[in-house]
Amino acid sequence: MFAKYRIDTSSTDGIYGAVVQPSAMSVIDSVMQVVHVLFAGLWTGSVLFVVGAVLPASTAGTISPDAMTAISNRLSWLTRISALVFVATGGHLAGTGYTVGSLFGTGRGQLVVAMLVLWFVLTGLVEVGSKRLRGASTVADLEAAIASTRSLWLAAGGVAVVLLVDAGLLAAGVTW
Ligand code: HEM
Repeated sequence: MFAKYRIDTSSTDGIYGAVVQPSAMSVIDSVMQVVHVLFAGLWTGSVLFVVGAVLPASTAGTISPDAMTAISNRLSWLTRISALVFVATGGHLAGTGYTVGSLFGTGRGQLVVAMLVLWFVLTGLVEVGSKRLRGASTVADLEAAIASTRSLWLAAGGVAVVLLVDAGLLAAGVTW
């Protein structure tokens, strides 16, 4: 959809003669897409790692409140930087690939709208969850903070998985 190529008929080098080169426009689109997918993997992967590995380990008393504060801070910053990246790159991809009509009127567009909503929900869950974990200064505080945010983090993990499924459906070209 975004690949806009031009045929370089002036080139006679190599075994192919004419070389297919991306135009300036498609380079920008490609950079946007690569950065978008890079942060998609980084962010959802980090959320799932915290939910699946860090929190269970911490429940068993193996992670100190200081370490948890550092991890929560990092996740929170990654969430904020990712938000800027998703709005810029996702906005670019949506703006160049879709119209308002196709966003709401096609299956692919609806997957993009769902992606936007899921990103918003996951950002909120991670921000609230991280803030509560950062506040703990003793092991007892941390246990209480983890217990009180358990369902929130489970929801965050679920939303991260649904986001990845949504992206997978887009990548697979599934539509209706
Ligand atoms: C502001 C939030 C976001 C917006 C506006 C947005 C928008 C878009 C758009 C327009 C596309 C291109 C769809 C197409 O090729 O037709 C896309 C692709 C993609 N998005 Fe997002 N997105 C957002 C957040 C996210 C998040 C949080 C993830 C995390 C999993 C994500 C993962 C992906 C992936 C992996 C693709 C590539 C799918 C493919 O290969 O076709 N996006 N996004």
